[in-house]
Amino acid sequence: MITQIVAVTGGLGLALTGLGLVLMWLLRRRSIGLMLVVVAVVTVTATVAGVVVITLEMIIPGHARDVALTVSYIAGLVGMGVAMAVARQVFAASRRLVAAVEAVAPSHDYVPPSGPLPAELQIISDALRQAYERLREGHERERALEGARRELVAWVSHDLRTPLAGMRAMAEALEDGVAADDATVRRYHTRIRLEVDRLSHMVDDLFELSRIHAGALRLSPRRIGVGDLVADTLAGAEALAGAKGVRLVGEAGPVPPVNADAAELGRALRNLVVNAIRHTPADGTVVVRAVADHQAVRLSVADCCGGIPEDDLPRVFDVAFRGETARTPGPDRGAGLGLAIARGIVEAHQGAITVVNEGAGCRFEIALPLSEPPG
Ligand SMILES: Nc1ncnc2c1ncn2[C@@H]1O[C@H](COP(=O)(O)OP(=O)(O)O)[C@@H](O)[C@H]1O
Ligand SMILES: [Mg+2]
Repeated sequence: MITQIVAVTGGLGLALTGLGLVLMWLLRRRSIGLMLVVVAVVTVTATVAGVVVITLEMIIPGHARDVALTVSYIAGLVGMGVAMAVARQVFAASRRLVAAVEAVAPSHDYVPPSGPLPAELQIISDALRQAYERLREGHERERALEGARRELVAWVSHDLRTPLAGMRAMAEALEDGVAADDATVRRYHTRIRLEVDRLSHMVDDLFELSRIHAGALRLSPRRIGVGDLVADTLAGAEALAGAKGVRLVGEAGPVPPVNADAAELGRALRNLVVNAIRHTPADGTVVVRAVADHQAVRLSVADCCGGIPEDDLPRVFDVAFRGETARTPGPDRGAGLGLAIARGIVEAHQGAITVVNEGAGCRFEIALPLSEPPG
Protein backbone atom coordinates (compact mmCIF):
# COMPACT_ATOMS: atom_id res chain seq x y z
CA MET A 1 0.00 0.00 0.00
CA ILE A 2 2.67 2.53 1.14
CA THR A 3 5.04 1.48 -1.64
CA GLN A 4 2.25 1.99 -4.12
CA ILE A 5 1.57 5.51 -2.79
CA VAL A 6 5.27 6.37 -2.91
CA ALA A 7 5.58 5.02 -6.44
CA VAL A 8 2.55 6.91 -7.74
CA THR A 9 3.29 10.27 -6.07
CA GLY A 10 7.03 9.94 -6.73
CA GLY A 11 6.48 9.18 -10.42
CA LEU A 12 4.03 12.06 -10.79
CA GLY A 13 6.34 14.39 -8.87
CA LEU A 14 9.30 13.49 -11.07
CA ALA A 15 7.32 13.99 -14.26
CA LEU A 16 6.05 17.37 -13.12
CA THR A 17 9.52 18.41 -11.86
CA GLY A 18 10.88 17.61 -15.31
CA LEU A 19 8.14 19.67 -16.91
CA GLY A 20 8.78 22.49 -14.44
CA LEU A 21 12.52 22.51 -15.20
CA VAL A 22 11.86 22.69 -18.93
CA LEU A 23 9.43 25.57 -18.35
CA MET A 24 12.01 27.36 -16.16
CA TRP A 25 14.63 26.98 -18.84
CA LEU A 26 12.27 28.39 -21.45
CA LEU A 27 11.42 31.29 -19.13
CA ARG A 28 15.01 31.96 -17.98
CA ARG A 29 15.00 35.48 -19.40
CA ARG A 30 11.53 36.34 -18.14
CA SER A 31 10.47 37.99 -14.92
CA ILE A 32 11.27 36.41 -11.54
CA GLY A 33 7.56 36.87 -10.72
CA LEU A 34 6.56 34.64 -13.62
CA MET A 35 9.06 32.01 -12.46
CA LEU A 36 7.58 32.12 -8.97
CA VAL A 37 4.12 31.50 -10.44
CA VAL A 38 5.48 28.52 -12.39
CA VAL A 39 7.07 27.13 -9.22
CA ALA A 40 3.74 27.50 -7.40
CA VAL A 41 1.73 25.94 -10.25
CA VAL A 42 4.12 22.98 -10.48
CA THR A 43 4.06 22.40 -6.72
CA VAL A 44 0.31 22.74 -6.45
CA THR A 45 -0.35 20.56 -9.51
CA ALA A 46 1.97 17.86 -8.17
CA THR A 47 0.18 17.85 -4.82
CA VAL A 48 -3.35 17.94 -6.22
CA ALA A 49 -2.60 15.39 -8.95
CA GLY A 50 -1.02 13.04 -6.38
CA VAL A 51 -4.01 13.32 -4.12
CA VAL A 52 -6.48 12.89 -7.01
CA VAL A 53 -4.72 9.84 -8.43
CA ILE A 54 -4.34 8.19 -5.05
CA THR A 55 -7.91 8.86 -3.94
CA LEU A 56 -9.29 7.56 -7.26
CA GLU A 57 -6.99 4.53 -7.48
CA MET A 58 -7.21 3.44 -3.88
CA ILE A 59 -10.36 2.22 -2.37
CA ILE A 60 -10.90 5.18 -0.10
CA PRO A 61 -14.33 5.72 1.34
CA GLY A 62 -16.24 8.53 -0.40
CA HIS A 63 -16.28 10.95 2.52
CA ALA A 64 -12.55 10.71 3.24
CA ARG A 65 -11.87 11.16 -0.46
CA ASP A 66 -13.95 14.34 -0.60
CA VAL A 67 -12.16 15.73 2.43
CA ALA A 68 -8.74 14.93 0.96
CA LEU A 69 -9.63 16.45 -2.41
CA THR A 70 -11.15 19.60 -0.87
CA VAL A 71 -8.16 20.15 1.40
CA SER A 72 -5.71 19.77 -1.48
CA TYR A 73 -7.75 22.08 -3.76
CA ILE A 74 -7.86 24.77 -1.08
CA ALA A 75 -4.15 24.34 -0.32
CA GLY A 76 -3.49 24.65 -4.04
CA LEU A 77 -5.51 27.86 -4.32
CA VAL A 78 -3.82 29.38 -1.28
CA GLY A 79 -0.40 28.44 -2.68
CA MET A 80 -1.20 30.06 -6.02
CA GLY A 81 -2.52 33.17 -4.30
CA VAL A 82 0.63 33.57 -2.20
CA ALA A 83 2.84 33.00 -5.24
CA MET A 84 0.95 35.67 -7.19
CA ALA A 85 1.27 38.12 -4.29
CA VAL A 86 5.03 37.51 -4.00
CA ALA A 87 5.40 37.85 -7.75
CA ARG A 88 3.59 41.20 -7.69
CA GLN A 89 5.81 42.38 -4.86
CA VAL A 90 9.01 41.42 -6.66
CA PHE A 91 7.77 43.04 -9.81
CA ALA A 92 6.85 46.26 -8.00
CA ALA A 93 10.20 46.36 -6.17
CA SER A 94 12.15 45.96 -9.38
CA ARG A 95 10.05 48.71 -11.01
CA ARG A 96 10.91 51.00 -8.09
CA LEU A 97 14.61 50.19 -8.54
CA VAL A 98 14.47 50.94 -12.27
CA ALA A 99 12.59 54.19 -11.61
CA ALA A 100 15.26 55.24 -9.08
CA VAL A 101 18.01 54.59 -11.63
CA GLU A 102 16.14 56.44 -14.36
CA ALA A 103 15.70 59.42 -12.05
CA VAL A 104 19.47 59.93 -11.64
CA ALA A 105 20.41 63.26 -13.21
CA PRO A 106 23.80 63.53 -14.98
CA SER A 107 26.69 63.66 -12.45
CA HIS A 108 24.29 63.39 -9.52
CA ASP A 109 24.08 60.75 -6.85
CA TYR A 110 21.71 57.81 -7.03
CA VAL A 111 18.90 58.02 -4.47
CA PRO A 112 17.76 54.49 -3.49
CA PRO A 113 13.99 53.86 -3.71
CA SER A 114 12.17 54.59 -0.46
CA GLY A 115 10.88 51.62 1.50
CA PRO A 116 12.40 48.17 1.93
CA LEU A 117 13.57 46.05 -1.00
CA PRO A 118 14.02 42.27 -1.13
CA ALA A 119 17.59 41.35 -0.09
CA GLU A 120 18.91 40.63 -3.60
CA LEU A 121 17.50 43.85 -5.01
CA GLN A 122 18.87 45.73 -1.98
CA ILE A 123 22.35 44.38 -2.83
CA ILE A 124 21.96 45.59 -6.41
CA SER A 125 20.72 48.95 -5.15
CA ASP A 126 23.75 49.33 -2.83
CA ALA A 127 26.12 48.37 -5.64
CA LEU A 128 24.44 50.96 -7.87
CA ARG A 129 24.84 53.64 -5.23
CA GLN A 130 28.57 52.94 -4.98
CA ALA A 131 28.98 52.83 -8.74
CA TYR A 132 27.23 56.18 -9.15
CA GLU A 133 29.35 57.69 -6.39
CA ARG A 134 32.55 56.60 -8.12
CA LEU A 135 31.22 57.92 -11.40
CA ARG A 136 30.49 61.32 -9.87
CA GLU A 137 33.94 61.50 -8.25
CA GLY A 138 35.48 60.72 -11.62
CA HIS A 139 33.41 63.46 -13.23
CA GLU A 140 34.50 65.97 -10.61
CA ARG A 141 38.17 65.07 -11.00
CA GLU A 142 37.85 65.44 -14.73
CA ARG A 143 36.15 68.81 -14.39
CA ALA A 144 38.87 70.10 -12.04
CA LEU A 145 41.57 68.90 -14.45
CA GLU A 146 39.77 70.49 -17.35
CA GLY A 147 39.56 73.78 -15.43
CA ALA A 148 43.28 73.67 -14.64
CA ARG A 149 44.05 72.91 -18.26
CA ARG A 150 41.95 75.79 -19.50
CA GLU A 151 43.61 78.16 -17.03
CA LEU A 152 47.02 76.96 -18.16
CA VAL A 153 46.19 77.52 -21.82
CA ALA A 154 44.93 81.02 -21.01
CA TRP A 155 48.10 81.90 -19.06
CA VAL A 156 50.40 80.39 -21.61
CA SER A 157 48.85 82.08 -24.60
CA HIS A 158 49.05 85.36 -22.72
CA ASP A 159 52.64 84.64 -21.75
CA LEU A 160 53.57 83.75 -25.29
CA ARG A 161 51.79 86.64 -26.93
CA THR A 162 53.42 89.40 -24.91
CA PRO A 163 57.07 88.54 -25.64
CA LEU A 164 56.22 87.61 -29.22
CA ALA A 165 54.73 91.06 -29.77
CA GLY A 166 57.84 92.63 -28.27
CA MET A 167 60.15 90.59 -30.46
CA ARG A 168 58.10 91.40 -33.51
CA ALA A 169 58.35 95.12 -32.81
CA MET A 170 62.13 94.89 -32.32
CA ALA A 171 62.60 92.74 -35.43
CA GLU A 172 60.53 95.22 -37.49
CA ALA A 173 62.54 98.15 -36.15
CA LEU A 174 65.75 96.35 -37.15
CA GLU A 175 64.35 95.42 -40.55
CA ASP A 176 63.10 98.95 -41.39
CA GLY A 177 66.30 100.56 -40.19
CA VAL A 178 64.39 102.50 -37.50
CA ALA A 179 66.85 101.13 -35.00
CA ALA A 180 70.07 101.99 -36.76
CA ASP A 181 72.64 103.07 -34.17
CA ASP A 182 74.99 100.32 -33.03
CA ALA A 183 74.00 100.41 -29.37
CA THR A 184 70.27 100.00 -30.10
CA VAL A 185 70.86 97.23 -32.63
CA ARG A 186 73.01 95.35 -30.09
CA ARG A 187 70.46 95.87 -27.35
CA TYR A 188 67.61 94.61 -29.54
CA HIS A 189 69.58 91.55 -30.57
CA THR A 190 70.34 90.71 -26.95
CA ARG A 191 66.75 91.19 -25.89
CA ILE A 192 65.47 89.07 -28.74
CA ARG A 193 67.89 86.29 -27.80
CA LEU A 194 66.89 86.48 -24.12
CA GLU A 195 63.23 86.30 -25.01
CA VAL A 196 63.85 83.35 -27.32
CA ASP A 197 65.70 81.60 -24.47
CA ARG A 198 62.87 82.27 -22.09
CA LEU A 199 60.25 81.06 -24.54
CA SER A 200 62.14 77.88 -25.31
CA HIS A 201 62.43 77.21 -21.58
CA MET A 202 58.73 77.70 -21.29
CA VAL A 203 57.95 75.34 -24.16
CA ASP A 204 60.34 72.83 -22.62
CA ASP A 205 58.57 73.14 -19.25
CA LEU A 206 55.18 72.73 -20.89
CA PHE A 207 56.36 69.60 -22.61
CA GLU A 208 57.69 68.19 -19.33
CA LEU A 209 54.46 69.05 -17.55
CA SER A 210 52.31 67.41 -20.21
CA ARG A 211 54.44 64.27 -19.93
CA ILE A 212 53.97 64.31 -16.16
CA HIS A 213 50.21 64.79 -16.50
CA ALA A 214 49.91 62.07 -19.10
CA GLY A 215 51.82 59.72 -16.77
CA ALA A 216 54.39 59.41 -19.55
CA LEU A 217 57.40 60.53 -17.54
CA ARG A 218 60.00 57.82 -18.22
CA LEU A 219 62.28 57.52 -15.23
CA SER A 220 65.60 55.70 -15.43
CA PRO A 221 66.26 55.23 -11.73
CA ARG A 222 69.78 54.45 -10.58
CA ARG A 223 71.46 54.59 -7.21
CA ILE A 224 72.78 58.11 -7.09
CA GLY A 225 74.82 59.97 -4.52
CA VAL A 226 72.87 62.85 -3.05
CA GLY A 227 76.04 64.86 -2.39
CA ASP A 228 76.87 64.83 -6.11
CA LEU A 229 73.37 65.87 -7.00
CA VAL A 230 73.54 68.86 -4.63
CA ALA A 231 77.02 69.82 -5.87
CA ASP A 232 75.92 69.67 -9.53
CA THR A 233 72.84 71.75 -8.87
CA LEU A 234 74.82 74.38 -6.97
CA ALA A 235 77.40 74.54 -9.74
CA GLY A 236 74.64 75.10 -12.30
CA ALA A 237 73.07 77.91 -10.26
CA GLU A 238 76.34 79.65 -9.37
CA ALA A 239 76.14 82.16 -12.22
CA LEU A 240 72.57 83.20 -11.43
CA ALA A 241 73.37 83.59 -7.73
CA GLY A 242 76.53 85.56 -8.50
CA ALA A 243 74.62 87.93 -10.77
CA LYS A 244 72.10 88.59 -8.01
CA GLY A 245 74.67 88.81 -5.24
CA VAL A 246 73.10 85.87 -3.38
CA ARG A 247 75.31 83.51 -1.37
CA LEU A 248 74.78 79.81 -2.17
CA VAL A 249 75.63 77.30 0.55
CA GLY A 250 75.53 73.52 0.21
CA GLU A 251 75.49 71.21 3.24
CA ALA A 252 75.39 67.51 2.48
CA GLY A 253 76.05 65.25 5.45
CA PRO A 254 76.59 61.50 5.23
CA VAL A 255 73.46 60.55 3.33
CA PRO A 256 72.76 57.11 1.83
CA PRO A 257 72.36 56.96 -1.95
CA VAL A 258 68.84 57.18 -3.32
CA ASN A 259 67.16 55.34 -6.16
CA ALA A 260 66.33 58.11 -8.57
CA ASP A 261 66.55 59.46 -12.08
CA ALA A 262 69.46 61.88 -11.75
CA ALA A 263 68.40 64.16 -14.60
CA GLU A 264 64.77 64.49 -13.48
CA LEU A 265 65.52 64.85 -9.78
CA GLY A 266 68.23 67.38 -10.66
CA ARG A 267 65.64 69.33 -12.61
CA ALA A 268 63.27 69.37 -9.61
CA LEU A 269 66.02 70.54 -7.24
CA ARG A 270 67.20 73.15 -9.74
CA ASN A 271 63.69 74.59 -9.96
CA LEU A 272 63.68 75.01 -6.18
CA VAL A 273 67.14 76.58 -6.10
CA VAL A 274 66.39 78.98 -8.98
CA ASN A 275 63.18 80.08 -7.24
CA ALA A 276 65.06 80.57 -3.97
CA ILE A 277 67.72 82.72 -5.61
CA ARG A 278 65.11 84.77 -7.47
CA HIS A 279 63.13 85.51 -4.35
CA THR A 280 66.13 86.27 -2.14
CA PRO A 281 67.38 89.87 -2.05
CA ALA A 282 71.04 90.67 -2.73
CA ASP A 283 73.33 89.72 0.15
CA GLY A 284 70.88 87.06 1.23
CA THR A 285 71.75 83.39 1.55
CA VAL A 286 70.26 80.25 0.02
CA VAL A 287 71.09 77.01 1.81
CA VAL A 288 70.72 73.63 0.11
CA ARG A 289 70.90 70.81 2.63
CA ALA A 290 70.76 67.02 2.39
CA VAL A 291 69.99 64.96 5.50
CA ALA A 292 68.63 61.46 6.15
CA ASP A 293 66.51 60.01 8.91
CA HIS A 294 64.89 56.63 9.40
CA GLN A 295 62.19 57.20 6.82
CA ALA A 296 63.60 59.38 4.09
CA VAL A 297 66.40 61.31 2.51
CA ARG A 298 65.49 64.98 2.74
CA LEU A 299 66.73 67.65 0.33
CA SER A 300 65.84 71.13 1.47
CA VAL A 301 66.27 74.58 0.00
CA ALA A 302 65.96 77.49 2.45
CA ASP A 303 65.98 81.11 1.33
CA CYS A 304 65.53 84.66 2.60
CA CYS A 305 62.40 85.53 0.64
CA GLY A 306 60.68 87.04 3.67
CA GLY A 307 58.07 84.27 3.76
CA ILE A 308 55.29 83.27 1.39
CA PRO A 309 51.82 84.64 2.28
CA GLU A 310 49.93 81.99 4.29
CA ASP A 311 47.10 81.99 1.73
CA ASP A 312 49.51 81.18 -1.07
CA LEU A 313 51.35 78.33 0.70
CA PRO A 314 48.90 75.56 -0.31
CA ARG A 315 48.77 76.81 -3.90
CA VAL A 316 52.41 77.30 -4.84
CA PHE A 317 52.59 73.80 -6.36
CA ASP A 318 49.53 74.37 -8.56
CA VAL A 319 50.02 74.64 -12.31
CA ALA A 320 50.28 78.27 -13.45
CA PHE A 321 50.22 79.62 -9.89
CA ARG A 322 52.35 82.73 -9.45
CA GLY A 323 52.60 84.95 -6.44
CA GLU A 324 51.74 88.65 -6.68
CA THR A 325 55.29 89.84 -7.32
CA ALA A 326 55.93 87.12 -9.89
CA ARG A 327 52.92 88.21 -11.93
CA THR A 328 54.24 91.67 -12.74
CA PRO A 329 55.96 91.62 -16.11
CA GLY A 330 59.74 91.43 -15.99
CA PRO A 331 62.64 89.76 -17.68
CA ASP A 332 62.93 86.76 -15.32
CA ARG A 333 59.21 86.22 -14.89
CA GLY A 334 58.33 82.53 -14.91
CA ALA A 335 55.21 80.82 -16.19
CA GLY A 336 54.32 79.31 -12.81
CA LEU A 337 55.25 75.81 -13.95
CA GLY A 338 58.48 75.20 -12.02
CA LEU A 339 56.98 73.95 -8.77
CA ALA A 340 54.25 71.93 -10.49
CA ILE A 341 57.00 70.16 -12.44
CA ALA A 342 59.08 69.63 -9.29
CA ARG A 343 56.09 68.10 -7.54
CA GLY A 344 55.31 65.84 -10.52
CA ILE A 345 58.90 64.58 -10.64
CA VAL A 346 59.13 64.02 -6.88
CA GLU A 347 55.80 62.17 -6.77
CA ALA A 348 56.91 60.01 -9.70
CA HIS A 349 59.75 58.97 -7.36
CA GLN A 350 57.22 58.08 -4.63
CA GLY A 351 58.47 61.10 -2.71
CA ALA A 352 56.78 64.16 -1.27
CA ILE A 353 57.47 67.87 -1.63
CA THR A 354 56.47 70.43 0.99
CA VAL A 355 57.02 74.07 1.90
CA VAL A 356 57.05 75.93 5.21
CA ASN A 357 57.85 79.49 6.19
CA GLU A 358 60.89 79.47 8.40
CA GLY A 359 63.35 82.08 9.67
CA ALA A 360 63.93 84.86 7.18
CA GLY A 361 62.18 83.07 4.37
CA CYS A 362 60.74 79.75 3.35
CA ARG A 363 62.06 76.23 3.11
CA PHE A 364 61.10 73.75 0.41
CA GLU A 365 61.78 70.10 1.14
CA ILE A 366 61.92 67.02 -1.08
CA ALA A 367 61.56 63.78 0.89
CA LEU A 368 62.59 60.63 -0.97
CA PRO A 369 61.99 57.12 0.34
CA LEU A 370 65.15 55.27 1.38
CA SER A 371 66.28 52.88 -1.33
CA GLU A 372 66.98 50.24 1.35
CA PRO A 373 65.13 49.95 4.62
CA PRO A 374 67.39 50.85 7.55
CA GLY A 375 68.88 47.68 8.96
N1 LIG B 1 61.65 80.24 -2.91
C1 LIG B 1 60.52 80.95 -3.00
N2 LIG B 1 60.31 82.01 -2.22
C2 LIG B 1 59.18 82.70 -2.31
N3 LIG B 1 58.18 82.44 -3.14
C3 LIG B 1 58.32 81.38 -3.94
C4 LIG B 1 59.50 80.58 -3.91
N4 LIG B 1 59.35 79.59 -4.80
C5 LIG B 1 58.15 79.77 -5.37
N5 LIG B 1 57.52 80.84 -4.86
C6 LIG B 1 56.17 81.31 -5.23
O1 LIG B 1 55.52 80.26 -5.93
C7 LIG B 1 55.15 80.68 -7.23
C8 LIG B 1 55.25 79.52 -8.21
O2 LIG B 1 56.59 79.15 -8.42
P1 LIG B 1 56.98 78.40 -9.75
O3 LIG B 1 56.03 77.27 -9.96
O4 LIG B 1 58.41 78.09 -9.73
O5 LIG B 1 56.63 79.47 -10.85
P2 LIG B 1 57.46 80.74 -11.34
O6 LIG B 1 58.83 80.61 -10.75
O7 LIG B 1 57.45 80.59 -12.80
O8 LIG B 1 56.70 81.92 -10.86
C9 LIG B 1 56.06 81.82 -7.54
O9 LIG B 1 55.48 82.70 -8.45
C10 LIG B 1 56.24 82.48 -6.18
O10 LIG B 1 55.14 83.30 -5.90
MG1 LIG C 1 60.04 78.96 -10.75
